[in-house]
Amino acid sequence: MPPEFKTIGVVGLGTMGAGIAEVFARHGFDVVGLEQTEEQLELGRGHVQHSTDRARKRAKLTKAEQAAILDRLRLTTDMDDLRDCDLVIEAVVERMEVKRAIFLALDEVVRPDAVLATNTSSLSVTELSAATAHPRRVIGIHFFNPAPVQRLVEVVSTVVTEPRVISDVEELTRRLGKRPVTVGDQAGFIANALLFGYLNHAVAMYESRHATREDIDTAIRLGCGYPMGPLALLDLIGVDTACQILDTMHRQGRNRLHAPSPILRQFVAAGLLGRKSGRGFYTYAAANSSVVVDDAGTASAHGTPRRRRPLERVGVVGSGALASRIGEVVVKAGIELTQTADATPDLRTLATADLVIEAVAHDLDAKTSVLAELDRICRDGAMLATTTSSSVIEIAAATSRPHDVVGLHFLDLARPTQLVEVVSTVATDPEVAETMRAMCAQGGAQPVSCGDRAGFIVNALLFPYLNDAVRMLDAHYADADDIDLAMKAGCALPLGPFEVLDSVGTDVALDIQRAVFRESREPGFAPAPLLEQLVTAGHLGRKSGRGFREHPDA
Ligand code: CAA
Repeated sequence: MPPEFKTIGVVGLGTMGAGIAEVFARHGFDVVGLEQTEEQLELGRGHVQHSTDRARKRAKLTKAEQAAILDRLRLTTDMDDLRDCDLVIEAVVERMEVKRAIFLALDEVVRPDAVLATNTSSLSVTELSAATAHPRRVIGIHFFNPAPVQRLVEVVSTVVTEPRVISDVEELTRRLGKRPVTVGDQAGFIANALLFGYLNHAVAMYESRHATREDIDTAIRLGCGYPMGPLALLDLIGVDTACQILDTMHRQGRNRLHAPSPILRQFVAAGLLGRKSGRGFYTYAAANSSVVVDDAGTASAHGTPRRRRPLERVGVVGSGALASRIGEVVVKAGIELTQTADATPDLRTLATADLVIEAVAHDLDAKTSVLAELDRICRDGAMLATTTSSSVIEIAAATSRPHDVVGLHFLDLARPTQLVEVVSTVATDPEVAETMRAMCAQGGAQPVSCGDRAGFIVNALLFPYLNDAVRMLDAHYADADDIDLAMKAGCALPLGPFEVLDSVGTDVALDIQRAVFRESREPGFAPAPLLEQLVTAGHLGRKSGRGFREHPDA
């Protein structure tokens, strides 16, 4: 008979282990937490205390409830104390030999019908189970950070896991208020397999100085509506943990995009592990604090203001929604605006402007010819901006003043945002970019600066991740509903990848992914064949009534 889950053992009380112990204790289970030393136990207890204090401050827990939770948590350094547990879940460091040793020791201690679970995020559950006396009772139960908050639990079954164990664990996670998604044993499962390529890509972007850490994180938060930017998220996950996960994924899949960016290893070597050590990509008020404080990086991002050019008159060419939005920013910035419709362009009215922004149709040739015409008409020293989402330098090169040309990319993916990517080419004068940044900020938009690379910041990070989700779907590892759920409930994303793709349009996604691939020649960025096929079949998403899902209301 399988056990009724009453007493749960948690081995390892670091960030994840303590969070998992808290979740069980909050839901009325007796929890036995095991650590190696009294100091580590104290740290683990401190995590739970801190997290429940926070819930009390927000009036989510009463004093009595908090006391009951802490009472249900028994702490020990003696593995024998796990003897009566119905389920033991380990959440120690991501190293196979350490986890294997724990499972072998647990085999000797717990009842034969107790379930042994691992919270591993990327190691093979099958390999771990094979080392035990009863592989059929071994399963993966993968929580997300912070465990008390994220609703997803990936239940990872191996080829030998007892079906009854799988269904019992699914039911157990529901009792914890979580959403289980059951998957087979593949590196990274669903969420990490999709998340970590994106995180590593963001690190590479930061390392190559394509944009600052603040701008990368702001771009993703505002551009995609994610709760955190990728670099802040890495600090939450732990840079060492992230590096180990990437290493494992790379070992198993040989995808170069999963080879940890060199700076990650340097951070680990230097002890910059993220929030838990007080410093990672950002510096925190103290170890385990979420409060970011200024450091040398902040100074270089926001320090001495750079020189700007005077801006009294701005022209906007275009008549659509984008042109109106830009016009609003200009007016709100307190600058005189001249707006000219592209249908009846009389560009000479713009001859005295200090800056002219083209916001004409989404066609590269049209944009290039408008900029060439503006270059002919506008006074010497006037700045020109293009709203293209592709190469800015190609458009700038059609003018005689590439140093005065900048890209202004207003993001409008699944929903309009205040985000503007201010794109400098190799020729752009830094004063020009700085002037644009200031104008956007004064006009109520949120500018971020970046280089002229395919996809700038947001599209470059978002679309390869969406493309990976399409590959995962095509490989039949999980269906679109489970993948969408995993990303929303595991990482608090507003939409799952297939919801984004159907909303943005598979054709638009394919175009962007092709551009990213063309520039990088990185095989892992090649558009997923299924994406190409959907576009060929005319399944363009919501706008055509069918994409990854049916949209009868379209
Ligand atoms: N522990 C417990 N509760 C926490 C918490 C923590 N560390 N951090 C935040 N919370 C709770 C707060 O108490 C608050 O609860 P209520 O709504 O009930 O009052 C809620 O979460 C929101 O917190 P805040 O308002 O303080 O902060 P926020 O709104 O900025 O949210 C966040 C913080 C929950 C971390 C949010 O930014 C988020 O969800 N980020 C995404 C995190 C993510 O992607 N996680 C997955 C990482 S991958 C992984 O974990 C897998 C792996 O194998 C590594």
